[in-house]
Amino acid sequence: MSPHLSLLRNLPKYLRPSAPRSSIRPLGRALHGTSIAFAGHLPPRNAGFKKIEEQDRAFFRSILPEQAVRTSDLGPFNTDWMNKYHGKSDLVLFPRTTEQVSKILKHCNDNSIAVVPQGGNTGLVGGGVPVYDELILNMSAMNKIRHFDSASGVVVCDAGCILESLEETLGAEGFITPLDLGAKGSCHIGGNVATNAGGLRFLRYGSLHGSVMGLEVVTADGTILDNLSILHKDNTGYDLKQLFIGSEGTLGIITGVSIWTPPKPKSVKVALVGLDSFKNVQATYEKTKTHLNEILSAFEFWDKESLKLVLSHSIQGTRDPFDDQYPFYVLIETHGSNAEHDDAKLQGLLEDLMEGGEVVDGVVAQDESQSQSLWGLRESIPEACSKAGAVYKYDVSMPQSVLYQLVEDMREHMRSKGALGSKVTDVIGYGHVGDGNLHLNISAPKYTDEVQSLIEPFVYEWIQGHRGSISAEHGLGVMKGAVLPYSKSPEMIGYMRKIKEAFDPKGILNPYKYLPLTESK
Ligand code: FAD
Ligand code: MLT
Ligand code: ZN
Repeated sequence: MSPHLSLLRNLPKYLRPSAPRSSIRPLGRALHGTSIAFAGHLPPRNAGFKKIEEQDRAFFRSILPEQAVRTSDLGPFNTDWMNKYHGKSDLVLFPRTTEQVSKILKHCNDNSIAVVPQGGNTGLVGGGVPVYDELILNMSAMNKIRHFDSASGVVVCDAGCILESLEETLGAEGFITPLDLGAKGSCHIGGNVATNAGGLRFLRYGSLHGSVMGLEVVTADGTILDNLSILHKDNTGYDLKQLFIGSEGTLGIITGVSIWTPPKPKSVKVALVGLDSFKNVQATYEKTKTHLNEILSAFEFWDKESLKLVLSHSIQGTRDPFDDQYPFYVLIETHGSNAEHDDAKLQGLLEDLMEGGEVVDGVVAQDESQSQSLWGLRESIPEACSKAGAVYKYDVSMPQSVLYQLVEDMREHMRSKGALGSKVTDVIGYGHVGDGNLHLNISAPKYTDEVQSLIEPFVYEWIQGHRGSISAEHGLGVMKGAVLPYSKSPEMIGYMRKIKEAFDPKGILNPYKYLPLTESK
């Protein structure tokens, strides 16, 4: 055994963390010849939308059970997870069937009532809460698994199934969901599809554009599009479901999801390593791919500032497994079918990394509880970021070679403006290295236009300059509709508008979001 491996020690047993719980600003820059119209000031309420009246509520009561029409204590439904976006809706509906969703939308479309589809409300771009008084269509009462076929691994379920519940049910059948997020205890599978969520297993099981087999969707006028296919192959016409994946509730309400699920791995290994530079994070990723190849299921990184935040707030009983602190941490996970084989591969990788000097220290989880503890450090970061009072989140993708440079440049930018340590508490970085996806988080005591204008357009110009995307996985919502031209050309945005008009000609679904605003919508 290599002498370096003595640095790799068994984790002490400690508490398994429980499952995690669950504006717009001025930019005057012209891009691609398009002026970015707003980004700090809310667009005005569209006067074309009707205010909900007693006769509308009476209609909804006539088609839904009493408890499915809620008009009081609506604070949590009007407020997003970050406490950044606040709506003023006075009506939340909880349909139980696709037919009820269809009747609700037909009434809303006929009467020009604006609607916000809402899943678990864990979204991070203000997409799932109203901007003004839009009716909230909450999907949590549609939470049944409709069918599971173990031969194909395809499950068909209601859109309101909570991801973690789905995972538990599938677990009993020997399968897992193809995606996993820190928000799994609250987010819905329908919300995941609507945002095209990426998450922690993307590297292994890929995008929802590949794993979703079919969708049942209700369009704005109440039409039910039943495309709950369970087929892996189907080349009959335009693949309409792909348009709804990532459409963030702007084209239709997803009521049912058919999704491929992988077999539950017989062997899961988790290691955490400490590194002294981001260059070594990248070198470690290269070696990890070569050593682990088909069993690699996650490769997540975070910086020491992220870990400090998690530990200082003791989120979910987290503890530092190392004696020293390192500038960077990487969590490596494998999903395989033979523990001995996977162990040998992981040990081989860690020896190589120690000998090569890419990694300074490391621990390997010895059981599921320790694996959960290591994952707890990673999954607690989003919650820790918001503890300062406010957090500005940027979820961006770019070539891996410059992934961490944005964090360093943003820190320097804040320092040069005299904001770091005062108006801004922390600038931290973490994310999904294999996907080229950085989560840049800037914490501050409160949300202010001043901090916002220090960050934007700096961050979007940086991303555009490095040929990146302004949203890798969280989507556009109310936060990024106006800045879409940083990532998409006017021609592409033009076609997106045509698609929106085809499915929702009156623009009642999730208005003021997703696309740059026009005068009327
Ligand atoms: P909501 O927040 O309720 O809604 C999100 C958007 O989808 C809104 O625009 C809403 O209108 C629309 N929508 C919801 N349900 C439907 C429906 N049935 N039909 C049509 N439109 C609908 N995201 C990632 O991609 N990767 C991560 O790793 C990740 N980790 C997270 C960790 C934490 C702690 C938190 C708080 C969030 C995380 N997110 C992550 C963001 C968020 O959880 C995901 O975007 C998730 O997919 C949203 O699901 P939801 O059910 O909460 O949707
Ligand atoms: C994550 O990877 O943890 C999520 O996308 C949430 C976040 O960025 O905070
Ligand atoms: Zn993420």
